[in-house]
Amino acid sequence: MGEVLGNFDKLLHIHHEGEDELMYPQLAEQAPACALHVEQMLEQHRQVTRRLEVIEPLRLRWMETADAEAGQELAGLYADLSAVLNVHLRREVTEVMPAVDRVVTQQELKKAAEHGSSQVSNKFLVGYLGMVLATNPPADRKELFKEIPAPVRLAYRLIGRRMYRKQYSTLFPGRPIPETL
Ligand SMILES: [Fe+2]
Repeated sequence: MGEVLGNFDKLLHIHHEGEDELMYPQLAEQAPACALHVEQMLEQHRQVTRRLEVIEPLRLRWMETADAEAGQELAGLYADLSAVLNVHLRREVTEVMPAVDRVVTQQELKKAAEHGSSQVSNKFLVGYLGMVLATNPPADRKELFKEIPAPVRLAYRLIGRRMYRKQYSTLFPGRPIPETL
């Protein structure tokens, strides 16, 4: 459990780092009118970073000791992180992404998306893909899957789907696993 959470935390951090370095500066340059929005989004990223920094040592301690009190505290910190992320992601998608689509090139976006991908294990990523697919409606799932490079699709079929099930049941014991591709 602690390891799966750690992988998600790391992925989140790297994802924000990619946006901070390779998407938001480009947006601010191409669309100066968005400057205020950009600053707000970067501040929300910093809020997330600060929470991850508090979570990390506690997560490690909890993995070592399985201490119930640390577990409770950790659950509270993740709930708080989730609240911050909910606000951030909703605003980023509705208020910022339309401008990003207009002014940031596909090539630049690709670079931002690929940022730091070598720092996360591919095995974790193909499992994560199962979760991403599961959060989309079935029709979108198929469309999304088609855009993924063939080797990754193969890896997903071979190990990713199973990893997704394992990750999900680790994080949400006893809950039915949402359908994916
Ligand atoms: Fe973001």
